[in-house]
Amino acid sequence: MTAEFTHQVDAFARAGVYQIAATLGGLVAALPLRAEDRWLDVACGPGIVTRALGARVREAVGVDLTPAMVGRAAADAARAGMANVRFQTGDAAALPWPDGAFDGAVTRFSLHHIPAPGRVVREMARVVRPGGHVAAADHLTAADPAVAGWHHDIERLRDPSHWLSLPAEVFFGLGSGSGLRLVTRTVIPFDLDFEEWLGRGSGGPANRAWIESLAAAPPPGGAEVFGVSDGRIRLSLGIALWQKAPD
Ligand SMILES: C[S@@+](CC[C@H](N)C(=O)[O-])C[C@H]1O[C@@H](n2cnc3c(N)ncnc32)[C@H](O)[C@@H]1O
Repeated sequence: MTAEFTHQVDAFARAGVYQIAATLGGLVAALPLRAEDRWLDVACGPGIVTRALGARVREAVGVDLTPAMVGRAAADAARAGMANVRFQTGDAAALPWPDGAFDGAVTRFSLHHIPAPGRVVREMARVVRPGGHVAAADHLTAADPAVAGWHHDIERLRDPSHWLSLPAEVFFGLGSGSGLRLVTRTVIPFDLDFEEWLGRGSGGPANRAWIESLAAAPPPGGAEVFGVSDGRIRLSLGIALWQKAPD
């Protein structure tokens, strides 16, 4: 995991798809941010979401398992002159903060890398105050196991740290065992450059032919979760916003 994301640091920080309205603006717009709040960005990578939060709230903290990502995030925030944004290494499944330390917690494009996404959401709920919010954004897969299996093969061939994308019903249900009430569920289509995506994952160049032949022959319904045409990939971003029960 950390080896893959050490490999991806620069390409990830540069990739346009993580800065566009659909994936960043759409997520930030869905969050109930207040100027006095303290928010946590879990599995923050190079801190793109953390900096967007920092522009809107009193303090934004990013945490990530990969030290190279945390280093890049801190450097980019310092370059941007953001004094209210800070970063540390840590595991999303065992967050290094006490209960109720934040007004809100968000994680983007991370849950499909983590074998126990429900545990991550539970940890996010724990470190948020009663009445605070938890949000997750990730690309979704199909409920049909045959389609999901085809989709996962493509993703894993490109990026060996890909664990499992979730179908919408499972994704939006992740908060149910953690005292969280689903406030909004949003699905936003987005697209990204196929060559940029392929080159970013450590498996992409070596597995190009295999990935291309799988992508060219989707099972029925496959193109709805991973459609490739004209050099672009079309995916769907699920955004879940939950609220923790007030005391
Ligand atoms: C695809 S990147 C997303 C980065 C960032 N959330 C964004 O959307 O810009 C996934 C990140 O999850 C981190 N990650 C994976 N497993 C983790 C874990 N158990 N705890 C914390 N971070 C983790 C990786 O190091 C990587 O930086």
